[in-house]
Amino acid sequence: MALTLGIETSCDETSVAIVDGGRRILSNVIHSQVDLHKQFGGVVPELAARDHLERLPHLLDLALEKAGVQPSDIDLLAVTRGPGLVGCLLVGAGVGAGLATAWAKPLTGVNHLWGHIYAAMLTRPDLEPPLLGLVVSGAHSDLVRMPEHGRFEVMGRTRDDAAGEAFDKAARMLGLGYPGGPALDRLARTGDARRQPLPKPSLPGLEFSFSGLKTALLYRLRDLGAEAGEQEKADLAAAFEWSVVESLLEKLDKCLPTRGEVARRAGGEKQLEVVICGGVAANTLLRRRAAEVVAGRARLTMPPLELCTDNAAMIAAAAFYGGTNQSTAVDPSLGWD
Ligand code: KG4
Ligand code: ZN
Repeated sequence: MALTLGIETSCDETSVAIVDGGRRILSNVIHSQVDLHKQFGGVVPELAARDHLERLPHLLDLALEKAGVQPSDIDLLAVTRGPGLVGCLLVGAGVGAGLATAWAKPLTGVNHLWGHIYAAMLTRPDLEPPLLGLVVSGAHSDLVRMPEHGRFEVMGRTRDDAAGEAFDKAARMLGLGYPGGPALDRLARTGDARRQPLPKPSLPGLEFSFSGLKTALLYRLRDLGAEAGEQEKADLAAAFEWSVVESLLEKLDKCLPTRGEVARRAGGEKQLEVVICGGVAANTLLRRRAAEVVAGRARLTMPPLELCTDNAAMIAAAAFYGGTNQSTAVDPSLGWD
């Protein structure tokens, strides 16, 4: 048994979790700051950092209590070291460093994006690298190869906006407010993408770009003017969602073998593992279309909704497997290194 206590404070969720052996969640308490930021239409970094600091002590007690463990039972502490909002990261890193000293436990800093991939390991305890990952969050849209635990090779990423950021901005244009992604997802369910088609971004290679699509939505709304009623907005939400989802899956498709190739190879070769994770992996259309695109070509794992968005269990799991960095260096520019 190796118990890891994880702390996640990179953006607008405060979370503390205890994970056994990198795979079994004993507790994963999450406080969402949605109500705090709603009136501002987006995350206010200063308020977010302060709220993390105020909530962490209680969430820490709750996580230990729910898991039924004492601080002395913990083997490893893990905090998100980046990428994220720097003030928010500092709170988690500071609390983690304090606990490490008080409890005399080792502390490791985890890359948030690795964390999202490890959410898949919590979903399927038998899942092992090598795998192909599509990490789609508020700040990243990365296609990565993970040859072994703790090693990631970025094959493609966005040239401008991330998928989640694009959803959030589109939601704001459609008057849906914050948090935009889930609201746009709900509205899209009542719309028809074919009635207001938007272009599907398509760059060569494995890169993504969503800023042109965002501009297309802006112009369409401007052209519609007062004619943009509830149904038109729902149709536009559906069209925007379709373009983002198909653009993401087009690149994933390029990395997968065809069904014919899989059938020819069938003789005992390990099936390719594909993980789609991060907040945008909660999107209804992405979940449905990803299953269709990957079927018969690879094995797809998408974490359940509560493990797609930010949580500390994924940070604890990543620390157990790949956290070799014993420092808590906070660098907001951190990508995958
Ligand atoms: O991974 P995450 O919780 O935080 C970051 O690491 O950024 O991802 C948050 C992003 C936000 O942009 C949010 O709008 C988006 O994920 N998101 C969604 C959905 N749920 C969350 N986007 C589309 N559809 C959803 N259902
Ligand atoms: Zn995240």
